[in-house]
Amino acid sequence: MTKKILINKDTLEFHLTNGKISYLFRVMEKSNQLEHLYFGKKINHRDNFQYLLEREVRPSNNLFEGDHTSSFEHIKQEYPAFGTTDFRYPAHQIRYPQGDRISDFQYDHFKVFKGKPLLEGLPATYVEDPDEAETLEIVLKDSYSEMALHLFYTIFAEYDAIARSAKFINHGKEDYYLKSVMSANIDFPDKNFEFIHLNGAWARENQLERKPVITGVQSIGSTRGASSHAHNPFFALVRPDTTEHQGEVYGFSLIYSGNFLAQVEVDTYQVTRAMIGVNPFDFSWQLKPNEEFQTPEAMIVYSDSGLNGMSQTFHELYRTRLARGQWRDRERPILINNWEATYFDFNEEKILNIAKNAADLGIELFVLDDGWFGERHDDTSSLGDWFVNKDKLPEGINGLSKKIHELGLKFGLWFEPEMICKDTKLYKEHPDWIIHVPGKRFSHGRNQFVLDFSRNEVVEYIFKLMDDILVDSEIDYIKWDMNRYISEAFSNDLLPEQQGEIYHRYILGVYRLYEKLIEKYPHILFESCAGGGGRLDPGMLYYAPQAWASDDTDAVERLKIQYGSSMVYPLSSIGSHVSAIPNHQVGRVTSLEMRTNVAYFGTFGYELDLSVLSNEEKEQIKQDIEFYKMHRKLFQQGTFIRISSPFTNNETAWMVVSKDQSEAIIGHYEVLAKPNRPYERLRLKGLADDKLYQINDTDIARYGDDLMQIGLIFGENFIGKANEYWAKEKVKDYNSKLFYLKEIKC
Ligand code: DGJ
Repeated sequence: MTKKILINKDTLEFHLTNGKISYLFRVMEKSNQLEHLYFGKKINHRDNFQYLLEREVRPSNNLFEGDHTSSFEHIKQEYPAFGTTDFRYPAHQIRYPQGDRISDFQYDHFKVFKGKPLLEGLPATYVEDPDEAETLEIVLKDSYSEMALHLFYTIFAEYDAIARSAKFINHGKEDYYLKSVMSANIDFPDKNFEFIHLNGAWARENQLERKPVITGVQSIGSTRGASSHAHNPFFALVRPDTTEHQGEVYGFSLIYSGNFLAQVEVDTYQVTRAMIGVNPFDFSWQLKPNEEFQTPEAMIVYSDSGLNGMSQTFHELYRTRLARGQWRDRERPILINNWEATYFDFNEEKILNIAKNAADLGIELFVLDDGWFGERHDDTSSLGDWFVNKDKLPEGINGLSKKIHELGLKFGLWFEPEMICKDTKLYKEHPDWIIHVPGKRFSHGRNQFVLDFSRNEVVEYIFKLMDDILVDSEIDYIKWDMNRYISEAFSNDLLPEQQGEIYHRYILGVYRLYEKLIEKYPHILFESCAGGGGRLDPGMLYYAPQAWASDDTDAVERLKIQYGSSMVYPLSSIGSHVSAIPNHQVGRVTSLEMRTNVAYFGTFGYELDLSVLSNEEKEQIKQDIEFYKMHRKLFQQGTFIRISSPFTNNETAWMVVSKDQSEAIIGHYEVLAKPNRPYERLRLKGLADDKLYQINDTDIARYGDDLMQIGLIFGENFIGKANEYWAKEKVKDYNSKLFYLKEIKC
């Protein structure tokens, strides 16, 4: 095993390396604070890294009298503070009892241990064997108070990633207020970067954007109480020549589902400061004596093989060492969800009819969506009344779940646990349980209000309501939805000086409820959802290994949404369904083939009324399902590679390759058809040079090097058959092709 944490004890230099990447920092002599030295591709260890120090004499504020090179503004730092010679945005800021915000965390000692600690109450990556990772804990003490700061760095043996987090502990006798507590910061020595991130809105999540960094501050984030549709808690800094397949990438991802900030600040000396963590805006945390505050975990990935290299690290790490539980490694069931088939308008007969059709076609899980409880006939009522509506389902969830199981299907149920409508028993009993400011107007979103999950009693109460249904019925899957953001953030349970804590406490409450349910019902497969992809974030993956990626089920729109989501999230976590045409979100009509070929690249399912389909369509779906089942492991656990981007091209292409490179599936999609077609080839990736691959059960076989260098050839050979060319049916808009490659053992 490669030694992972190397320490030059005389010079207090710390070198984290797994033989592929290096992360380097040191303790500065005079100030005793931490200086960042390097992060990137592995470099050889040296007994002394002092030659890396740069100290220019510049007009600035200096820390030590007579020393003109002691300005923090000109030193690349690990976890910077503001207000004492550094004028850039800090990684942390604390308000002291007298009102000032100046801290001085000095190095005290370090610890190195095998493996990786869990973060109490927060999602985080983990190891199954202590040899998988090594953790360095740096303990710093504030010279102005009795506060301690613990910085955690984990390096993984198999993944080119560093996990970072920070913990503040109040060992003193007074209260301190944390105003900013980022999870990680890196000061890069140059600004030769482009900034990549995922933005969006409801129904068009995770759109990829790439722009050169500018001098000054650029940031993305959330102030909505959820990671949100608007921005994903991820960004990457890439070199201008970096592509999907080559070049340097530094990927930052936050394992958190609440308000976040991801910020890049380029200063006038071309240093690029990158940080990610809980959004300091509207945040403050009262840290009482003997209390501690643990930040969420940030994952920083380095790749010198382009964006695909970064994504593959995230995929493997998040699929196998962030997702947990019985469903982590299991092939996920093909599901049918009744939402787009019925919306709120269903009864047991309709549901059983859809389920029966689904079972006949080979579908494995039926999911009953919104509308089964209280008087929920539209989106104006009943959230919080988690009691079955007997007019719709006379035999209750219990009876229905049994009948669905008798059809040979698993049964899943929709909940929106964090929300409440005003017409409910719960609201009448506990009006103070919703997030609002007493005496001030409060707003609704989709006619609903947010329960104050920062209060433990609320979490316990909702657990009890859900538990009553779960104990009583045969439930294999839960779709956990969340359909509005938090506004008028205030908790009746917190003191005025603690109101800045509500967003973070809220999300801790959400995690607590998940944890309780998982503990009691470990067999249940959770799928997270927030009006589609509003909470498709790494934090959720710790509890729910799959997420409904978007309410937009149109195949063309999904190309972008799934391509963008795959920057960070493995296919096993991206819920993707075949839905009806004309599509309910954009009205577009695409072929069943196109819809299926797009939905295959995710956790596959259907979201339409199967009973109205023609026999021909049903027969096709039966075959499509058989195909997915045959290759499900490859789709869900293979190595995913993006080839052609829908954000810049009419053609999208991606592929998935098995770990042993013996098989692969390629998806190729063309949005608009072209006349008089030019020559087209698709160069594949990730195959083995010397393996011979049979293509699509035909007698055509080609070597891996040939498929990667020359590519799949889309043009046909019409020598002597010109008439056939003119008689050929025209390729229409929204067309797709799927190629299955299988190694032929000679
Ligand atoms: C939003 C979800 O994304 C949909 O799939 C569906 O569950 C509705 N909510 C139900 O209200």
